[in-house]
Amino acid sequence: MNQNLLLGQTLRFDGDPFQSPWQEVTNHRHDGAVLIDDGHILAVGSREKLLAEFPEANIIDYGNDLIMPGFVDAHVHYPQTAIIASWGKRLIDWLNSYTFPEEMRLHDPTYAGEVANSYLDIALAHGTTTMASFCTTAPSSVNAYFETAGKRGMRVVGGKTCMDRNAPAGLIDTVQRAYDESKELIDRWHGKGRAIYAITPRFSPTSTAEQLNTLGALWSERPECLMQTHLSEQAEEIAWVQDLFPSARDYLDTYEQYGLLGARGVYGHSIHLKSREIDKLAEVGAAVVHCPTSNTFIGSGLFDLMGLAKAQVGLGLASDVGGGSSFSMLRTMAAAYEVAQLKGAVIHPAQLMWLATEGSAKALHLEGLIGKLGPGIEADICVLNLNSTSAIDQRVKNANNFWESLFPTIMMGDDRAVRQVWVAGKAV
Ligand code: GUN
Ligand code: ZN
Repeated sequence: MNQNLLLGQTLRFDGDPFQSPWQEVTNHRHDGAVLIDDGHILAVGSREKLLAEFPEANIIDYGNDLIMPGFVDAHVHYPQTAIIASWGKRLIDWLNSYTFPEEMRLHDPTYAGEVANSYLDIALAHGTTTMASFCTTAPSSVNAYFETAGKRGMRVVGGKTCMDRNAPAGLIDTVQRAYDESKELIDRWHGKGRAIYAITPRFSPTSTAEQLNTLGALWSERPECLMQTHLSEQAEEIAWVQDLFPSARDYLDTYEQYGLLGARGVYGHSIHLKSREIDKLAEVGAAVVHCPTSNTFIGSGLFDLMGLAKAQVGLGLASDVGGGSSFSMLRTMAAAYEVAQLKGAVIHPAQLMWLATEGSAKALHLEGLIGKLGPGIEADICVLNLNSTSAIDQRVKNANNFWESLFPTIMMGDDRAVRQVWVAGKAV
């Protein structure tokens, strides 16, 4: 029997709740059902209808739990798993003190495999079924990541981080090596199973103009790949970019000039953008990724979620581990809510849920494949217990509607709320 019928509450979106009123595009069912056939979702509807339509299916009744798409973490650094929650630094110091030494350790392929395993186990335990991860400059760290994810059947995005300056000698590559190794990795991994390759210049300060230009050329040769990097995260970083690229109009221009701006470009952080940068990102259809626990943890600033949504810039949500302080997309949604409050805006739970699933999938150009409960979509599913702790449960008892019963889990939930995760139609 390859068909499983999951029963529980369901939540799906028929549109983008940042562009339309959330009430108009949100579809919640108390009596929901999701039919999984092999690795895909075949049908979503009411429990009565699907029970009648698929009488032979194996029934899994999750009661009052919420059946939703697996979380999509649109920007993370798996090599930084073991240095999460490192104390007392801002971005550049944090990179030099904690991040670069740890990324160097992943030159050892055995250690890289251990970290990839540990990271993917933790991510799945938190309900995250897809992520876009930076690897290290070592191709073996990319192999470790895709091999480990492949064994778990996961759809993941990743790429070799390219740096040819302003990092320890043991960690940097060269213009030519970045091109050759990235190209070889694309040939090996892009489209293999569920793997997606992202060309990955770390950020402008650690690449020469020549390296950025060469990676831009590689992207034009392989336009089916994504391109991921960092943009406008912290004031000191932005000033440094200005010094390094004196003729650039702004930070985004250091990518734009070298062929690294496009619809399949994914720009992490993007906090302190100028209006030219916002207009340009919207014009080309690129996506920015909000990393709220990282932005507060390393003191980067307050992302303007509602402003960027209004400007029609593509949006994703991400943990940014290990700059981010949590593997949990629930905690990440809570931080996004809090950062928005500090900007004077209120994000509805429907918007948070969309951002952590379909929005991030869209930012990674994976819409139609993952991030949604719908026929034909790959069966990566997270089942959330909305009463996972006594503190949450006592609040939920006081809820007047579905959103009030969900919001405590968004604000206070963690991996204890994740009842079950399905990857490509298999319970893990
Ligand atoms: N900018 C360049 N590299 C990094 C990184 O590893 N983490 C974060 N948060 N920002 C970066
Ligand atoms: Zn990052």
